[in-house]
Amino acid sequence: MQHFLWGKVVLVLVAVVAILQVVHLVLLSRLESRHHRHDEQTDPVSSSGNEVDAAFAILARNLHQGRVLDASGEYQVVPNLALGTRMPAVRSLGALPDVTLVTQCSYNHLYSIVPLVQRWQGPISVAVFAEEHDLSEALWAIVGLRLCHTEVRQNVSFQLVSPLLAGGHPPLTAPPDSTSPCHLKRTQRPDQHNYAGSHSFPNNLLRNVARRGVATEFVLVVDVDMLPSANLRQDFYNFAVKSRLFSESRREDKTVYVVPAFEVRENVPAPRIKAELLQLADKGDLRPFYIELCWKCQVHTDYEAWQKEPPSSGLSPLFEVLWKDPWEPFYIARNSVPFYDERFKQYGFNRISQVCELHVAGYKFSVLNNGFLVHRGLKTTSSFHLNKDLDQERNRLLFRQFKVELREKYPESSRRCY
Ligand SMILES: *[C@@H]1O[C@H](CO)[C@@H](O)[C@H](O)[C@H]1NC(C)=O
Repeated sequence: MQHFLWGKVVLVLVAVVAILQVVHLVLLSRLESRHHRHDEQTDPVSSSGNEVDAAFAILARNLHQGRVLDASGEYQVVPNLALGTRMPAVRSLGALPDVTLVTQCSYNHLYSIVPLVQRWQGPISVAVFAEEHDLSEALWAIVGLRLCHTEVRQNVSFQLVSPLLAGGHPPLTAPPDSTSPCHLKRTQRPDQHNYAGSHSFPNNLLRNVARRGVATEFVLVVDVDMLPSANLRQDFYNFAVKSRLFSESRREDKTVYVVPAFEVRENVPAPRIKAELLQLADKGDLRPFYIELCWKCQVHTDYEAWQKEPPSSGLSPLFEVLWKDPWEPFYIARNSVPFYDERFKQYGFNRISQVCELHVAGYKFSVLNNGFLVHRGLKTTSSFHLNKDLDQERNRLLFRQFKVELREKYPESSRRCY
């Protein structure tokens, strides 16, 4: 009798699971087709005034229909505000064998996307931050970039993050001068600092939102004012194929591939290949990233050894580095690496907290030989906003707490963040 009852219970449970699976699949396929529709509708080809208004209306609609709350309840997030027309929709099963460049910025820095997409030649996911009174302008900027730059329209997907307002957002207004959308870039104020707005700049939330918009297996998270070396994406792809990184059996592999970062003088074009980079370094126009402000944050990359290695073709690992405090390299990794802690906002400890979590979680850091990143402009103490030190103090305390939490999260790990 008992057995019979249990058998029934099991049967019912199996049936429930099957039904849930079907519901899940139906919902997924609906989502897919919504993505596709959205895709077709956001692919304007010419840029007459009507087209601008139409493109703006689509983004405004996506904003109203697609916004969700972030985990803290302080921000509204609009995933896939605009998808690249050549970009595959994010799939729930598996990931495409490629690398997506992931970045984030406030809307008035959006124009930096253009050189980035031209250099990267592949999928990019960007999370854009705009405060409530800037939302219309942010949408204009996105419309303008998409209409005036084919490569942006094809390969960039935009996500939006905006602080949530108790009284709701002011209505969106279409761009005033609809005749030439390409003038929109001039309305931007590139001199204004990301961290200088009236709301805290949620850089880690933005990074995570951008990463969630990625359909490929690998990501490279960079700052928007950096440029990758030429062919970095293609070379990494070739290396990954050769080393079978995309194969099922490597999914759990815990290696990240460090791409050394440099900074180049403002008026000097960013080098495309390592040979050019070495020449610029000789002339004193280029130096390791952050060398003046926080040398210990980058020095473990071992720039000297990297620069000694003569340029070659393709990409391969040069040496491995054991993580040491407070190293915060940029790297290519599977998108399954730990997310960024969204409590970190503004300046300080936002990237390093994630890198140290990688270390504690058992990841290895392998430095690539020929690829690199270049920050446009030298970082000096005067390049920062007024409250940098205050931000940093607050985040220092948070980082201390974060490290304690890591010990609970990875109880078997003997690795520490110091
Ligand atoms: C867009 O990305 C694809 C790969 O996804 C690449 O082949 C193509 O060159 C890119 N287009 C541009 C204009 O960069």
